[in-house]
Amino acid sequence: MSKNVLIYKSFERFWHWMQALLIFFLAATGFEIHGTYTFFGFENAVTYHNIAAYGFMILIVFAVFWHFTTGEWRQYIPTLEHIRAQLNYYLFGIFKNAHHPTKKTVLSKLNPLQKLTYFGLKMLVIPIMVISGLLYMFYRYPQNQGVESINIDSLEIVGVLHTAGAIMLVAFLITHLYLITTGETPTSNLKAMLTGYEELEGEEETAVENSETLNSKI
Ligand code: HEM
Repeated sequence: MSKNVLIYKSFERFWHWMQALLIFFLAATGFEIHGTYTFFGFENAVTYHNIAAYGFMILIVFAVFWHFTTGEWRQYIPTLEHIRAQLNYYLFGIFKNAHHPTKKTVLSKLNPLQKLTYFGLKMLVIPIMVISGLLYMFYRYPQNQGVESINIDSLEIVGVLHTAGAIMLVAFLITHLYLITTGETPTSNLKAMLTGYEELEGEEETAVENSETLNSKI
């Protein structure tokens, strides 16, 4: 038996779509700054990139607060359990109509590969983008304005890290778009992130209970 349960709460959906929009826009303006193509014009691209970057950092502050106050951060603790089964499913099983190897529930809505990927993005790639981006914004070359300890010799490492992170985020976005279509039906994952609700197996009595359990863990 399956039931329509609230799996993504309203802030979570707002955060997800704002983040998607901002990362897409930061990549579009960032690669123009990098010189990959011309669309807005270099100076406009820099201005828009800076504005979007401030928006992104404000969103991150609210998202961190939300994840810790709701206890939802626990969903992202990575695990190696069932990771091989999940990989096998995406590489082979999916083409033979196999069942999803892990069950989605309110308390565990991410599969092991998602946990690992999102953990890596949150703990590594996004912090690298924010720190290198801020260094890019506020760097100082030696002897500029006196305090030598906060000066840097060159922006090269900052540029390489920021661009490498940007390439990883674009690769992630492309993979993510494909994986969205691999839910129970091709549109079920997208619908869930738009409406918050998804048909889940065996959630009938536990759905409300689960969100209460999660809240009581705060
Ligand atoms: C809070 C986050 C971010 C901040 C503070 C930030 C800031 C900056 C700054 C100040 C620059 C240099 C602009 C200039 O040359 O005047 C830059 C360049 C760039 N940004 Fe960001 N950025 C952020 C996030 C992102 C994201 C998420 C992406 C892509 C998904 C991205 C992609 C790029 C790219 C590709 C460049 C050009 C790098 C180069 O050619 O060296 N940025 N960013």
